Amino acid sequence: MACLPFLGILMSSRTRGSLFLVTFCCLLLHVTGSRTDPLEVNALQEIKRSLIDPMRNLSNWEKGDPCTSNWTGIICFRRSHEDGHFHVQELQLMRLNLSGELAPEVGQLLYLEILDVMWNNLTGRIPFEIGRISSLKLLLLNGNKFTGSLPPELGNLQKLNRLQVDENNITGSVPSSFGNLRSIKHLHFNNNTISGEIPVELSTLPRLAHLILDNNNLTGTLLPELARLPNLTILQLDNNNFEGSEIPEAYGNFPRLVKLSLRNCRLQGSIPDFSRIKNLSYLDLSWNNLTGTLPESKLSDNMTTIELSHNHLTGSIPQSFSELGSLQLLSLENNNLSGSVPTEIWQNKSFENSKLQVDLRNNNFSDATGNLITPDNVTLYLRGNPICKSPSIPFDKQFLKNVCGKKKQTPINSNTPCSNMSCPFENVQVSPGICLCKAPLSIDYRLKSPSFFFFTPHIENQFIEYITTSLKLETHQVTIDRLIDDNRLRPRLYLKLVPKEEIKFSKTEVIRIRNWFTSWSFSGNDFFGPYELLDFPLQGPYADLITKKSVISTAGWVMIVAGSTVTATVISVTATLLFIKKRHEKSHTLTKKRFSRTISREIEGVKKFSFVELSDATNGFDRSTLIGKGSYGKVYKGILQNKTEVAIKRGEETSMQSEKEFLNEIDLLSRLHHRNLVSLIGYSSENGEQMLVYEYMPNGNVRDWLSANAMETLSFSRRSHVALGSAKGILYLHNEANPPVIHRDIKTSNILLDCKLRAKVADFGLSRLAPAFGDGDGEHAHVSTVVRGTPGYLDPEYFMTQKLTVKSDVYSFGVVLLELLTGMHPFFEGTHIIREVRMANECGTVVSVVDSRMGQCSPNKVKKLAELALWCCEDRPETRPSMSKVVKELEGICQSVREPDMFSEKTKLLCTKTSSSSSPVPSPLSLLPGSDLDSGFFHPVKPR
Ligand SMILES: *[C@@H]1O[C@H](CO)[C@@H](O)[C@H](O)[C@H]1NC(C)=O
Ligand SMILES: *[C@@H]1O[C@H](CO)[C@@H](O)[C@H](O)[C@H]1NC(C)=O
Ligand SMILES: *[C@@H]1O[C@H](CO)[C@@H](O)[C@H](O)[C@H]1NC(C)=O
Ligand SMILES: *[C@@H]1O[C@H](CO)[C@@H](O)[C@H](O)[C@H]1NC(C)=O
Ligand SMILES: *[C@@H]1O[C@H](CO)[C@@H](O)[C@H](O)[C@H]1NC(C)=O
Repeated sequence: MACLPFLGILMSSRTRGSLFLVTFCCLLLHVTGSRTDPLEVNALQEIKRSLIDPMRNLSNWEKGDPCTSNWTGIICFRRSHEDGHFHVQELQLMRLNLSGELAPEVGQLLYLEILDVMWNNLTGRIPFEIGRISSLKLLLLNGNKFTGSLPPELGNLQKLNRLQVDENNITGSVPSSFGNLRSIKHLHFNNNTISGEIPVELSTLPRLAHLILDNNNLTGTLLPELARLPNLTILQLDNNNFEGSEIPEAYGNFPRLVKLSLRNCRLQGSIPDFSRIKNLSYLDLSWNNLTGTLPESKLSDNMTTIELSHNHLTGSIPQSFSELGSLQLLSLENNNLSGSVPTEIWQNKSFENSKLQVDLRNNNFSDATGNLITPDNVTLYLRGNPICKSPSIPFDKQFLKNVCGKKKQTPINSNTPCSNMSCPFENVQVSPGICLCKAPLSIDYRLKSPSFFFFTPHIENQFIEYITTSLKLETHQVTIDRLIDDNRLRPRLYLKLVPKEEIKFSKTEVIRIRNWFTSWSFSGNDFFGPYELLDFPLQGPYADLITKKSVISTAGWVMIVAGSTVTATVISVTATLLFIKKRHEKSHTLTKKRFSRTISREIEGVKKFSFVELSDATNGFDRSTLIGKGSYGKVYKGILQNKTEVAIKRGEETSMQSEKEFLNEIDLLSRLHHRNLVSLIGYSSENGEQMLVYEYMPNGNVRDWLSANAMETLSFSRRSHVALGSAKGILYLHNEANPPVIHRDIKTSNILLDCKLRAKVADFGLSRLAPAFGDGDGEHAHVSTVVRGTPGYLDPEYFMTQKLTVKSDVYSFGVVLLELLTGMHPFFEGTHIIREVRMANECGTVVSVVDSRMGQCSPNKVKKLAELALWCCEDRPETRPSMSKVVKELEGICQSVREPDMFSEKTKLLCTKTSSSSSPVPSPLSLLPGSDLDSGFFHPVKPR
């Protein structure tokens, strides 16, 4: 027994030696006798006996012992129980072409936490004996042909978090005993033939987040009590038969609801007032018999989808519908609505990254409040309204055909394929125009209940960010290979995960990633909703992981560490420990020292905040204080008790590091001080949250100032000084910071402007220490590490070789200079800014690509700046200038253009207010147009 705690330490070590020794230790224990509980062995044998397994996937369930041999799909606890036996922890049999029945003996696996038989062809009833497995957390039976009703015994499962029986042939009603599932968060029963009423007992479930019962045969009235569910975010009941029921007024009181979908439920009566539900994003009440008018009060700013078509609604469209900044779909077709078409819904709005569909067909709209010509990203349908025949409106013919004609099919996005380079695996497009030969992992994935309507590029970016941060992969490692979004209700995505440095993933990585998906260690977020894992095939170089029947069981196998008092074991473990300890000492002395130092002292120069202080500063992290979102998490504007304005980066659960790593990072950040760097004021690591507190930058980021919709612009001389300032900040990181730092994510959205429009470089989240220039050969020293950064700014050399040098920052900075010069995005209309400017420069027409908003500027200086930028963007790192050279050149350019000291009225206001005002001032960023969300921080929040 004495060896147990030490073995825990061994497990956390990643050295190959220790893994080997653990295995060795386990083999020893195996020899000395711990085996799987005989009752469980028997249960597994019975389970196998009643299954039909045409592909012989379970053929190895015969020899040896389930926990200590490699039985497919069986994961056991790491150590034997005090009863001396191993116990089965997970049974993972997803998509193995199994049919037959699930034997009642499954109820004898009393220690089971995950029971997963998704996407097979199992028939028969769901064994009520499962109700005995009190440790069960995930019960995943979806995608089979189970019949019979839901066993009431399942209501005994006090630890159950997720119950998925969707897409089966279940009949009967939902047992009222399910009201006892104290831990349940996810009830997914869609696509069965469940009948009867929803039991009122469900309305007391304290943790329920998703109640998904669509496509069944439910009847009765909609329960007002459900509105009391304190944590419900999704209620989806489409395609049931609540004949004669009304939508209870109480449904306006759901505290946390994000999505309400009651499509085709035979509902009548009027639409309640949903304006009090703060987070509501998705409302689908279509195909009912609803009457009355549209509610006047303004719905949540988060609304993406309002689908009220095919009802009997009357009256006109309320003014408040024009104020919904995140809207993607407003569908009111086939109602009796009248009045004017409110063109304010799309006028004066930016749809740069989004889309909007307004469907008003077959109503009685007779005129419009303004111009019916819509921007490119807005689609309007008006067919079947008197307005289409109105002679008073001067439509042109083409317009009339588009808007009043037949509905157009919106094209489904598709990836441009990579060329047929020879590659033993697959040419994967990892970034526009860049294909690499890799062995990707393919995942068939479906969003079960998303809260948006269009999967736009903007949402695609958010989605990739969400997957990569959760999985701790790099942005370039995840691509959406195919998107099938035909009915827009449950979009299906084929994901490809690409190994970062190697051609293929290591076995440990495959196991980590696969387990992450199959154990639902994260359960989706409110916006993307819960996910369905349809398949995770292991093909190509990973196929042997299947044929050897070890992919899943290996996880269990490696983790099996037994406790036993046999002397031989103790001796072997002692020997092991000595060995391991030595290795540890050697490789980790340095880090350990640093950790203990950072933990034992306060970090100099930064303040440690309590959670409460930061919560108070942001009004409890109120939405109104949200100013942006980055890869790390959300960014809030806070006002500390001493009235200082600050920006608070609040790490998301998925981006959290260990306390040590976090303090280490702060230790690094706290040592970086320069007038052109955004400075860290403090941090908080309390209450299970990690937050960074930075100085607040009232003038937002440079990208927004350059945007086509910016209300004010920066003059040429201002831009030159912004360039010079940020170059100095980067130079400091490269040459003066000790140890040197490579930024790795230089881009215009990471360059912020203070109240005097001075540039400061932000977001060192991706920073890594630069190689010490003493060792290696000067500039050519590199850190070989994973590719990070933002497409469009990424040094191609770094991308291809993964060798990071200071010259990668120089390249990105060159792109920043080009943006300052032209006002364009790095990527536009299928080309890249570097190519455009280079061509113009070669033709001697560089002045033609310069941002015309800057007014008059000296052609000589423009040319100099363009040439400097192109020099920075040279393909070969050796030929690019160093940052100190860049600073010198920019100083030359700025010399005769005096730093402008005239501020506009707006910026003057910002500088004075910052120091005195105490009430939360509306963020000045709201004056600026939004930009993409995937970048640094301090962004105005863009409607999703
Ligand atoms: C587990 O499977 C691997 C690969 O087939 C095999 O080499 C190994 O001997 C097996 N281990 C046991 C204990 O059966
Ligand atoms: C289930 O059976 C049907 C035919 O009855 C077959 O087409 C399908 O591929 C099977 N699915 C699985 C996962 O075995
Ligand atoms: C299951 O339900 C589907 C669709 O509701 C039906 O086509 C199929 O025949 C049913 N299968 C069984 C075995 O009841
Ligand atoms: C569920 O049932 C509906 C209606 O029959 C059908 O359109 C849908 O494709 C089914 N599957 C899912 C996953 O929603
Ligand atoms: C749905 O329930 C009704 C009775 O409420 C019944 O008549 C009908 O057959 C059921 N439909 C199915 C597909 O089971």
